Amino acid sequence: MDGLDAVKKKYLDGILAAGDEAALEDLRLAAIGKKGEVALMMRELGRMDPEERKTAGPALNALKDEINSALAARKASLGDAALEERLATEWLDVTLAGRTRRQGSIHPVSQVTEEVTAIFADMGFTVAEGPQVETDWFNFDALNIPAEHPTRTEMDTFYMHRDADDDRPPHVLRTHTSPVQIRHMQAHGAPCRIIAPGRVYRADYDQTHTPMFHQVEGLALDKALSMANLKWVLEEFFAAFFEIDGIKTRFRASHFPFTEPSAEVDIQCSWVNGQLKIGEGDDWMEVLGSGMVHPKVLAAGGVDAEKYQGFAFGMGIDRIAMLKYGIPDLRAFFDSDLRWLRHYGFAALDAPNLHAGLSR
Ligand code: PHE
Repeated sequence: MDGLDAVKKKYLDGILAAGDEAALEDLRLAAIGKKGEVALMMRELGRMDPEERKTAGPALNALKDEINSALAARKASLGDAALEERLATEWLDVTLAGRTRRQGSIHPVSQVTEEVTAIFADMGFTVAEGPQVETDWFNFDALNIPAEHPTRTEMDTFYMHRDADDDRPPHVLRTHTSPVQIRHMQAHGAPCRIIAPGRVYRADYDQTHTPMFHQVEGLALDKALSMANLKWVLEEFFAAFFEIDGIKTRFRASHFPFTEPSAEVDIQCSWVNGQLKIGEGDDWMEVLGSGMVHPKVLAAGGVDAEKYQGFAFGMGIDRIAMLKYGIPDLRAFFDSDLRWLRHYGFAALDAPNLHAGLSR
């Protein structure tokens, strides 16, 4: 057992110098692992005479214990050093200002759609929807616009592509929200009171026209509805929407194939130094088309024109948004320019309701 001190020194020095846990583990295996140096020495005990064994046994056990505790001590101090290192490098300046996150805003079209919905809901209207890709039957024929009718070309319709041998009915991007009238009548009949906001499409592009824009359709059917009801509903709407009591409207006789009689509706406005003001002055601004639903349209919707009658209207959502919020160019609505959206957009919590007021 002369070599014991040398063995002890070798391992204890090694353990003290070990730089990480992997090195410690290597040393542990080399010393007291199953085939380690100390373990092999312990196996020799069997071949010793009893007297020799009496001193060698405890000495080897003591060596093993010493190596074990040196391993544990070194492991602990390596851990402390690692923690010290982390504490020195990983730190957080809690006095720094927070990082702000960019917040999105609600598009004026969405905001105004919500406003319109809130006002009409208060008058008992529910919201109906229809597809943006329509058959030409729903978009035209059912609305009393036959194939040769000039309205079909006036509306600058987008037709969906068809292969020469494709005999499905022609589809169009709906040119107005009026086909929702037919769909709603077919599904729910009369009486009814609905609005149908949504996207519509016409091949047109200038300061006040974009190929995609938004309309809101209105349809009310009952036994005794008249133009007077239409006028009241629209005046209520404009007074609430523009927040001007007694705002003046002007009904001008007009023509739509799907209403008879028909009226275009203007609201009172003024232009002062190029600034548009709603609800004052002697000028008029056209905002919608309307009229009493044509009996042929009721028939296409499966509603008995002997029993029911009613009114319909169609209004440009983007247009009334421009008027209410003083936005000069329609094209900017759909440019997705963040500066524009931040300027004209609404806070997410600014949800329109009649009691809190409709505008900012
Ligand atoms: N659909 C018409 C348009 O797009 C508007 C309208 C709707 C007119 C309902 C009368 C009744 O111009």
